[in-house]
This record gives sequence, structure tokens and C-alpha cells, in this order.
Amino acid sequence: MNTKILIIGACGQIGTELTHKLRTIYGTENVIASDIRKMNTDVVNSGPFEVVNALDFNQIEHLVEVHQITDVYLMAALLSATAEKNPAFAWDLNMNSLFHVLNLAKAKKIKKIFWPSSIAVFGPTTPKENTPQYTIMEPSTVYGISKQAGERWCEYYHHIFGVDVRSIRYPGLISWSSPPGGGTTDYAVDIYYKALSQGTYECFLSSETKMPMMYMDDAIQATIDIMKADADQIKIRSSYNLAAMSFTPTEIAAEIKKSIPDFEITYKPDFRQQIADSWPASIDDSSARKDWGWKHKFDLTSMTQDMLLHLSKQ
Ligand code: SER
Repeated sequence: MNTKILIIGACGQIGTELTHKLRTIYGTENVIASDIRKMNTDVVNSGPFEVVNALDFNQIEHLVEVHQITDVYLMAALLSATAEKNPAFAWDLNMNSLFHVLNLAKAKKIKKIFWPSSIAVFGPTTPKENTPQYTIMEPSTVYGISKQAGERWCEYYHHIFGVDVRSIRYPGLISWSSPPGGGTTDYAVDIYYKALSQGTYECFLSSETKMPMMYMDDAIQATIDIMKADADQIKIRSSYNLAAMSFTPTEIAAEIKKSIPDFEITYKPDFRQQIADSWPASIDDSSARKDWGWKHKFDLTSMTQDMLLHLSKQ
């Protein structure tokens, strides 16, 4: 049977680039993009698109049947900062959309699921440097609690019902083609826009807040690779640690200054500082590297060059 893909949340920061990449690999007609609204004209006009509410099981089931979907990528979620402002809705969206997709796989209507987890599953009691795959996990944000619960359910559905669900704990993701929304790591995207447009940036985190980050190209590659791997290579069915680089606002600002010498950064930490302080500074992703061959390409220097190149053309 041919691979036929449904992406839920295709207009978001990851979904936009994932849709393009999957369409080049599997063919435009075999990748159905969907979102709650038609929010991104590129995604909507570059192939099949459906409006769907990730909380409506019947709508998703209908799409799966009509398009004979085999694989679902569930990218719809409320991120960390937004979730703190609307905890009940964040919990509803982040958990129930996952249950809908897990239950479709349990009923054998789809074959494979990709569901993203996050470094937010870790908390203030987790070892901060080189955070291991298996460690203390006491997340203190609504987003982190929902992702950790989601991981437990993924593993449960795999063990009890044989559901083929695969997951990655994404670090902060940096991209130029579509903006992030509502995350704590978003400063590392915003800073490039402001450096080019205004020459200054007021950072909502303190200067020495070190967090794990990744360029979107690498994140998309990891997503494709984990989904392409043979099922028996995927030994972890909760979610894999994944890493590329870690840096502080001071370090990313210094890197930008190499291209824009007059660039200035100032600091005004807000409620997101506490969220960032509860997360790891660096991640041990040796399991992903060993089990399914994960390898990153971009570091802070190459990412900064690529970001500034693309954004200055826009
Ligand atoms: N980038 C996300 C956030 O900041 C973490 O997964 O919320």
C-alpha cells in the first residue's frame, strides 16, 4: 500500500516546512495538509489542503477514510508560553488530539503516527547539562505536563495495542520560512528578524540562559528519518532526546555581530524566564544517534549565516 500522509497543524512553524519536504519525497497528491484555518497560502496552494479541527475525532476519521491515509503527523499544539495563559485549552488540545490519532491507529485505520514531544518534558529537578534519555522528569509547565503525559500514552498504546507511534523531543527550533508561535525558545528566531530590520533586540530571557536549540532543516530531517526507519530500530516508544547545539542569548548575539557589527541586544526577562530556567541547558541524544542514525548538520555559525542570508532576501 502506498504511503498517504495527513499532516494536522500544517500551517505552523514545523508543519509548513514538513509539508513541503514530504511533498517532494512522497509526491504532492500523497500529502494532505490540514489545519484549523487556511493560515499559510504556500501550504494551502501547493497541494491538497483540508480544514480540520484537531479536537474533532469524526472530522479526522473522515479525512483518513476519504484520502486512505496511512501515516499521520500530528503537529497541532499550544506551545509553552501560550499554554500558561490558557491551561485548560492547552491540556484539551494537546492531549485529546493525540488520543484521536492513537485511537485511529488502535482501530487499524492508520499505520503510523509521528507525534512531537519537547525538552519541556524535563523540569527543575532534572540534571541540567547533558540531560540523559532516562532521568528525573517533573515538568513544571502545562505544556511540559501535557507532553510528558502524551509520551506515556504513546508508549502505552505501542505496548498494549501495537500502535506504531514515533516521537522526538524537539529542542527550540529556529527557522526563517514561517514564524514560531507562543514558545519560550522563540527569542532565537525573533532576534534574527530584529537584527536585520532594527539593528537591536530586546530579549525576554536573561543573557546567560542556555538552552538546547536546532535549525529547522535538521529537525525536519530527523522527523523524516525516524518515520522512515524500520520499526525494530525504534526502541524507544515514549520519545527520543534530540540535540544539535546549545547557546545563550549572549552567544547568539555575538554570532550575529560577526555579520552585523552594530547589532545591540538588551535584556528584559519576563514570565518566560522561569520556564526557560526549568528546562535543560544541553541534551544527551546518543540513543537517537545509535538507534536510527540521527546526525545534525547545523551549528550556531552555519545556522546564523543561513538565517541571515534567507531573511535578508525576504
Ligand atoms: N520550543 C518550545 C517552546 O518554547 C519547546 O518545545 O515552547
